[in-house]
Amino acid sequence: MTWQGRRVLVTGGAGFLGSNLCHALVQRGARVVALDGFLFGGGANPANLADAPIELVRGDIREMDLRNVCEGTSVIFNLAAQTSHMGGQNDPLADIAVNAVAQVRLIQAAREAAPDAVVVHASTRQFYGRAQKLPVDENQPVAPPDANGVSKFAGEQYWMLEHRVRGRPVVSLRLTNCYGPRLRIRDARQTFLGIWLRCVLEGRAFEVWGGPQLRDLTYVDDVTEAFLLAAATPGCHGQIFNIGGPPPASLHDIADLLVSIAGPPARYVTREFPADRATIDIGSYHADDRAFRTATGWEPKVSLEQGIRRSLEWFRPRLAEYL
Ligand SMILES: NC(=O)c1ccc[n+]([C@@H]2O[C@H](COP(=O)([O-])OP(=O)(O)OC[C@H]3O[C@@H](n4cnc5c(N)ncnc54)[C@H](O)[C@@H]3O)[C@@H](O)[C@H]2O)c1
Repeated sequence: MTWQGRRVLVTGGAGFLGSNLCHALVQRGARVVALDGFLFGGGANPANLADAPIELVRGDIREMDLRNVCEGTSVIFNLAAQTSHMGGQNDPLADIAVNAVAQVRLIQAAREAAPDAVVVHASTRQFYGRAQKLPVDENQPVAPPDANGVSKFAGEQYWMLEHRVRGRPVVSLRLTNCYGPRLRIRDARQTFLGIWLRCVLEGRAFEVWGGPQLRDLTYVDDVTEAFLLAAATPGCHGQIFNIGGPPPASLHDIADLLVSIAGPPARYVTREFPADRATIDIGSYHADDRAFRTATGWEPKVSLEQGIRRSLEWFRPRLAEYL
């Protein structure tokens, strides 16, 4: 697939992963429309789309007429979502309105306005819940640990249904924790590493909750590459894939690496896992993503050390725009 001149829609395009994808698409010559409702508490940031010819449509997928924005697109990267786990627990109706009900609205609009478009849907490893065995492959039973996991699973399944019943080429990528430039670092809403990076850049100690849990953090450029390949590889269409990162590391190891890369005064303190979060915590996770590697030749290219280094370098001169 060539991206040159192709009209591409990225929902959630002003957010962390969506905006990185928009920039990559522009570099490949695509005509990019970023649709975003700038939802409170999410990763949307006008700075994410700065200095690139990206058409930004501000709109809420829960209520806007989605046909216009779909018109003429040949690929839809569908990343708009309510992503907060605690937010989903506190207000499950608002959570399902975005992650499931509005997905059905988008599916219906795309049927009319972009019947042939390939859709790559951003899904999550969250709804596997606590891993029955590591690494987690796509056959592990789904057992969402929280309301956000339920709504994200429902959204994914509506899209896969669209493939099965109507033949739309849909790929769902179940992502693990992602990080890198344009991450929301103001707080820990997006990932623990966001607030860690902020604290390090501000010269403050960050908190590590728990510690021995394993995570396979994926650097955003590797995630972007996975999205592009998923769209461009017909053999992926109609399938669901886990996307992981480089070899897993414990939270303590990640914290130690961050401190050693940043140098003094970077430091951290270890705290007990907060009780309200422990109830929805999934423990250790790392993905078995061999199916996607086999289908596309993809593999994560950026090591944890390189990714942390690049993230610090990227945010240092831009900190004010992200606080
Ligand atoms: N970042 C990760 O580690 C990670 C992990 C697993 C899955 N995902 C999935 O990837 C996708 C992107 O995540 P992200 O980390 O970039 O989050 P993000 O919050 O930065 O991006 C989501 C974007 O969607 C927008 N949005 C939310 N509701 C909307 C609505 N009703 N109408 C229009 N726009 C709306 C938000 O404003 C935000 O800009 C999500 O679907 C998320 O579930 C991300």
